[in-house]
Amino acid sequence: MIPLVPEYIGYCDVGIEADLITSQHARIHLLDDGFFKYQLDIDNLQVDNSTGLICVSRPTNPSGNVLTDQECDQLDRLAGNNDVPLLIDSAYGTPFPNIIFNQVNPFWNENCIVCMSLSKLGLPGARTGIVIANEEVIRFFSNMTAITSLAPAGIGAALVNQLILDRSLLPLCNDVIRPFYQQRSQLAVRLLREAIDDSRLHIHKPEGSMFLWLWFEGLGITTTELYQRMKKNGLLVVPGKYFFPGQRSVSDHAESCIRMNYVQSEEQLYRGIEILAAELRACW
Ligand SMILES: Cc1ncc(COP(=O)(O)O)c(C=O)c1O
Repeated sequence: MIPLVPEYIGYCDVGIEADLITSQHARIHLLDDGFFKYQLDIDNLQVDNSTGLICVSRPTNPSGNVLTDQECDQLDRLAGNNDVPLLIDSAYGTPFPNIIFNQVNPFWNENCIVCMSLSKLGLPGARTGIVIANEEVIRFFSNMTAITSLAPAGIGAALVNQLILDRSLLPLCNDVIRPFYQQRSQLAVRLLREAIDDSRLHIHKPEGSMFLWLWFEGLGITTTELYQRMKKNGLLVVPGKYFFPGQRSVSDHAESCIRMNYVQSEEQLYRGIEILAAELRACW
């Protein structure tokens, strides 16, 4: 069960049965200056005896949302009361790569499964993940890995072990990786605001990860169509509807959002935003 969507596109294809995932739309909290933030809709979360796991990414791909400490507590209580584990996908989280722009605490206890990855340290090909969980869960993971991969890859672990031993891992995250993404997200927000002076553009508050999540109100067309139009002009974004795993139908909100990447060169970013702005003007 995914307690708030939008969520990571990669969850859509996990599992071997249809309808494996259930999910709940996030609540939208409007903030000043055209920003908004998704919030856990704890009152409407349906956990029953068919639920096996609660899963969230923190920070979230695609929205850049970071669940608050209080929201983690709420999910933890819900998981504990229903005797299911809480999985926190920490692919962008702390302590590494630590692409988090605000102050939150790491979360773990015996009922949590925290998953980390070397991918966002620049090592996606190393295929190394780190699972922090109680011993019983780790035993299951070990058995599963023995079947699916025979043995975990050793290269990533060897590389990162060296970074830990010479104490360069955390400075790399805090002095190089996080500032890069934070500055890029600030630049992208500034360029968007300059190019699109319209209150119908809402930007999810960038709190972490590597993306901006944009919501266009009253566009008149779906963002699936907007994607097609912009692609013809040389701009690729990801339509929002793909980030709603566990939803049976596509909501208006899902079709009003896009995920935007901001790690290209500044010139390309500028050009991409110009193409986006022109299409939005035409639609609005
Ligand atoms: C939230 C989230 N979880 C997991 C992954 C996948 O990470 P890995 O490359 O370690 O499989 C990604 C990659 O984009 C992600 O955004």
